[in-house]
Amino acid sequence: MIPRKAPRPLDGQLYTDPAVFDEEMKRIFSRMWVCGGRLEELDEPGRFATREIGGESVIAVRTAARDAGVGSNGNGTAEGTTQELAAFFNVCRHRGSRVVDECAGRANVFQCPYHAWTYGLDGRLIGAPHMGQDFDPNSAGLVPVRIGALHGFFYLSLAADGPSLAEVAGDLPDLSRFTLGRLVRGDRHEYEAQANWKILCENYNECYHCAVVHPELNRVSDYRNGGNLETGRFFVGGPMTLNDGCNTMSATGRSNRPDLPAIEVTDRTSVQYYHVYPNLLISLHRDYVVTHTLWPIEAGRTRVVCEWLFDPEVAAAPDFDPSDAVDFWHLVNRQDWEVCALTQLGVASRGYRPTAYEGSEACLQIFDGWYLDQMGL
Ligand code: FES
Ligand SMILES: [Fe+2]
Repeated sequence: MIPRKAPRPLDGQLYTDPAVFDEEMKRIFSRMWVCGGRLEELDEPGRFATREIGGESVIAVRTAARDAGVGSNGNGTAEGTTQELAAFFNVCRHRGSRVVDECAGRANVFQCPYHAWTYGLDGRLIGAPHMGQDFDPNSAGLVPVRIGALHGFFYLSLAADGPSLAEVAGDLPDLSRFTLGRLVRGDRHEYEAQANWKILCENYNECYHCAVVHPELNRVSDYRNGGNLETGRFFVGGPMTLNDGCNTMSATGRSNRPDLPAIEVTDRTSVQYYHVYPNLLISLHRDYVVTHTLWPIEAGRTRVVCEWLFDPEVAAAPDFDPSDAVDFWHLVNRQDWEVCALTQLGVASRGYRPTAYEGSEACLQIFDGWYLDQMGL
């Protein structure tokens, strides 16, 4: 595949115009598989989470116990766990009230707060007070949304057709050595960045800014240390080498945590950064993984969920302390959101006239090219 590269940074209107934002929700977020988060959030029957995708509220729920055999290769599969997961538009089939108002929780049934129509975890309507004999409850289940599991994440797709999650999985680089399917969450931070979601993606996809914005990071991984770029239909990314003497991303550049069990020698001195379109940013270190999921709120605002993942045995140790990794990326995150917010202000100006990318911005040039394709521009 020869990726399309945007010829120059995108026009300001694409970051600020509410009509463009609506079009992105239709063309990108309503059509693609969107990363919902870690399957760990849906770890037992009845555990649910709601997500806002493409302007829609979606309920994701585990309907049955997880098959113990699934994910034993560390990856999970699109097929393996899908039968035990379900997702629905969060809209009552009676007169349309939102059924679930919480971000997450545990339920035996979903009961609409308005007139108490009640749905099973599989979305079937199982109670509708006084509706009488003529009403067929089978015709009034919650409207399904596609859900799948991959690498320990759940993904949601509002599109009834389009590529399968297996097709997406087949396109992504082989990350099996990081055993993503078995990693567990050590911490989680949520932010609201005052910037368009694409500005956050673009910022992730280059390290041209790192020496200026992230002096702490630059001491561990020099901004010129980018390796070979990789790209496909659904992702862009590549490695960055750590500076001499460093073995992970932390304030000191070192940690005593053991390597993730299957990594290769080169992973000991590098970090892999991938942007899985549209909303997952995944940074793989030899001893932990950081993920960002992006949740566009409006043209100039984005919710960001950042999670730190560790080997389950390491995380279960009584002296487990993820704070070196968490503090480091929490600092980098805030530094990033600040320049992203400044950029949002700038691209909204009549005086914004974008000129050219720098050579090390190739990943973001590819992301921008991908974006223009999706938008038919
Ligand atoms: S709108 Fe849900 S029961 Fe009436
Ligand atoms: Fe950054």
